Amino acid sequence: MTYHLAVIGLGYVGLPLVREATSSGLSVVGLDVDASVVGRLADGRSHVDDVSDADVATMLAAGFRPTTDASALGDAEAVVICVPTPLSAEGGPDLSMVRAAVDAVAAHLRPGQLVVLESTTSPGTTEEMVRPALEARGLSVGTDVHLAFSPERIDPGSTTHGFRTTPKVVGGCTPACTRRAADLYGRLVDDVVLARSPREAEMSKLLENTYRHVNIALVNETAKVCHELGIDVWDVIRCASTKPFGFQAFRPGPGVGGHCIPIDPTYLSHAVRAQLGSPFRSVELAQEINQSMPAYVARRVQDMLNDGGRAVRGSRVLVVGTTYKTDIRDQRESPALGVVRALRALGADLQQHDSRAPDLVVDGEAVPPAEDLLAAAAAADVVVVLQVNSDLDAEALVSAAGLVLDARGALPEAAHVVRL
Ligand SMILES: NC(=O)c1ccc[n+]([C@@H]2O[C@H](COP(=O)([O-])OP(=O)(O)OC[C@H]3O[C@@H](n4cnc5c(N)ncnc54)[C@H](O)[C@@H]3O)[C@@H](O)[C@H]2O)c1
Repeated sequence: MTYHLAVIGLGYVGLPLVREATSSGLSVVGLDVDASVVGRLADGRSHVDDVSDADVATMLAAGFRPTTDASALGDAEAVVICVPTPLSAEGGPDLSMVRAAVDAVAAHLRPGQLVVLESTTSPGTTEEMVRPALEARGLSVGTDVHLAFSPERIDPGSTTHGFRTTPKVVGGCTPACTRRAADLYGRLVDDVVLARSPREAEMSKLLENTYRHVNIALVNETAKVCHELGIDVWDVIRCASTKPFGFQAFRPGPGVGGHCIPIDPTYLSHAVRAQLGSPFRSVELAQEINQSMPAYVARRVQDMLNDGGRAVRGSRVLVVGTTYKTDIRDQRESPALGVVRALRALGADLQQHDSRAPDLVVDGEAVPPAEDLLAAAAAADVVVVLQVNSDLDAEALVSAAGLVLDARGALPEAAHVVRL
């Protein structure tokens, strides 16, 4: 059996790629080291937001084969690597999973194959780490095999930007490599954008996420300043965003979360420090500001309770919305973790609610879930809204609660609702 495509890492990035490829008529084998992930997928069950069980059934019916057997890689015309790149202790990407995936590709490499790295990483990884590992097999990149980097731009939970309609950047080690990768992605997306080399493609991903990070930091700091000055930051943003050019609205919040925004800019500042010996100042400043937000939210809760003559210790605080983004289940790096940590340290009696992610464990200790949201809101001294899912009845929550801190500016205005 030969496959058009092998996808390594069947997670948030790999699985939507498999879905798009199978629906575009490509035969796909998916490799994952986690046997439970492979088993669940083979049984038709998805573990990823945005990919439903029905999608998995359709993918399987179209010939998708999930496996833990790396020898299947040798049967594919193209191999795309979508494994995690968490933050290492030194602040750069931990490339151990990429290295393991590349070793598996190299072990089964055969002439004519295309290899693409999609995992977010520091500029230089494709040429300095992946290329030598493949060429150690005696095959030359650009002639015997092709190698490229193509950053993933998935927008979890989004209904407006799908895989096919989001342009895909590709940068190959040689022009032939770029052409080969562009041919593959040209079957999956409407628009393929050619980068000069893998380094530009790798850097473009970091710039995109750093751009968000820095602008979120700017608006978060603006929110803090406006609060002190008695200015409504939400109204400021509403007015500024009517400018038809030169301004893009970002909104304040309890911090940044997920696998990209809090982490990818760190790869950039780490690479700059390691290679140039100088700080990437705007990135480091943005990190400092965004990382301060969960503690700032906790301080605002403290201030609100204080205004009513109460201490945080022993007060009932209900945290609503524990994921980092609307309508997803992913709690990785969620600001809710930091808010809970800070309120817990102050002695708050905490409960939490999120319609998508029922459980919340912080530092090994579960935060009790509120079974009945409105009853819990009515019983709480303060309700802290960190995230608003589309199924939240915001009017009912505001009516039920006695005091609310709305960290997203998403609830109806009322005298007892305080915005960040
Ligand atoms: N989640 C996002 O929204 C997003 C967006 C853009 C880019 N990215 C980047 O894409 C990459 C993948 O992220 P993700 O969110 O899909 O991760 P994930 O944790 O959801 O999935 C990764 C999968 O890879 C598997 N895996 C790990 N090592 C493996 C190996 N050696 N061989 C085979 N399988 C292996 C894991 O078991 C897991 O199932 C990361 O570099 C991330 O930064 C993620």
